[in-house]
Amino acid sequence: MSADERLAGLVREAVGAVVDPELRRPLADLDMVRTVTADGGDVRVEISLTIVGCPASDRIQREVRAAAHGVSGTDRVEVELGVMTPEQRAALTERLRGGRARGIPFTADSLTRVIAVTSGKGGVGKSTLTANLAVALARRGRTVGLVDADVHGFSIPGLLGLVDAQGRTTKPTRIDDLIVPPVAHGVKIVSIGMFLREGDEGRAVAWRGPMLHRTVQQFLTDVWFGDLDVLLIDMPPGTGDVAISIGQLLPHADVLVVTTPQHAAADVAVRSGTVARQTGQRVIGVIENMAPLTLPDGTVLDLFGAGGGEDVARALSADGDTVPLLATVPLSAALRTGGDAGLPVVLGTPDDPAARAIDALAATLTASGPSLAGRALPLGVR
Ligand SMILES: Nc1ncnc2c1ncn2[C@@H]1O[C@H](COP(=O)(O)OP(=O)(O)OP(=O)(O)O)[C@@H](O)[C@H]1O
Ligand SMILES: [Mg+2]
Repeated sequence: MSADERLAGLVREAVGAVVDPELRRPLADLDMVRTVTADGGDVRVEISLTIVGCPASDRIQREVRAAAHGVSGTDRVEVELGVMTPEQRAALTERLRGGRARGIPFTADSLTRVIAVTSGKGGVGKSTLTANLAVALARRGRTVGLVDADVHGFSIPGLLGLVDAQGRTTKPTRIDDLIVPPVAHGVKIVSIGMFLREGDEGRAVAWRGPMLHRTVQQFLTDVWFGDLDVLLIDMPPGTGDVAISIGQLLPHADVLVVTTPQHAAADVAVRSGTVARQTGQRVIGVIENMAPLTLPDGTVLDLFGAGGGEDVARALSADGDTVPLLATVPLSAALRTGGDAGLPVVLGTPDDPAARAIDALAATLTASGPSLAGRALPLGVR
């Protein structure tokens, strides 16, 4: 082997280790490194990107150049960016799908634990809790995806900081029919808010059942989450079309029911758990949110009363399985303001009592294993 060939080989190796910022895999695995040549210290590297005008192209070019320069013996580095042929792209999307046929990968034998967060009433804090739970699980080392299934009232992008000051939502990248979800605070996220045209983001999505069903189905089929430990689903309130679609598409999902401590809210919360069960899903626990808050002077702010979470857990247990009250999350200004700012409280103010309660829930779910759900859980295995 000539010295030039040896150098080119070393550069290829170094450049191949650069990680694609969107696909989060090394360029070598993605087959993006084309020819690498060396002529004395002059090195030339050709990279093919998935799409023209790939938003990450500047960064890839920079990192490839730096990686090539890092190899001793290189002097001048030239990086040329090209685009994959349709055949190369098809091979890539197939490889990313892991050779699986196109379809919903979250089946009974998948290693991903799917947890849908539901409620009877609206505004009880489902989305806020789901966003924080996702981040808390990611911080505990899980690979986490989050589907915002509230098509009419999507709020996840805002809660996780994917909406800029102009109200623009971060868009996913598309590789043909594969949708690469944006990542925020370590969580892969998909929401209808990412697919609306600029300027339409503030408008209502007025769709009926079949369109909602197709959208949720597409989120689960075409969004490339890769291998996840946990997929959380933020449900719209109540027991409408989307709840039924999710029940049909993900019959193996576990369900968390969110309620407030108000006794009057309990019945309708129970109903949402019962409907989930009718589709075969398992209710694994209740979360009581907006529970009494102890103020610094010791007084207790008791806005919604107490005991609703226990009521719901008891009522759902009467149906068969034992359903525990898994967490009680107090009223918290930091939880709300963190949501408004797109910085979840579990990251921004981790000592806040609500943040601690949510992190404890993440720990419970991570450690739960078979006892909680009554079957071997993939969570914690890897
Ligand atoms: N524990 C809490 N303390 C204070 N405010 C809270 C708490 N939980 C949620 N909130 C606030 O309550 C409001 C409703 O929360 P969120 O949007 O998460 O509810 P939701 O159940 O997802 O609503 P929807 O049914 O409309 O989807 C938000 O303004 C949120 O910041
Ligand atoms: Mg919501």
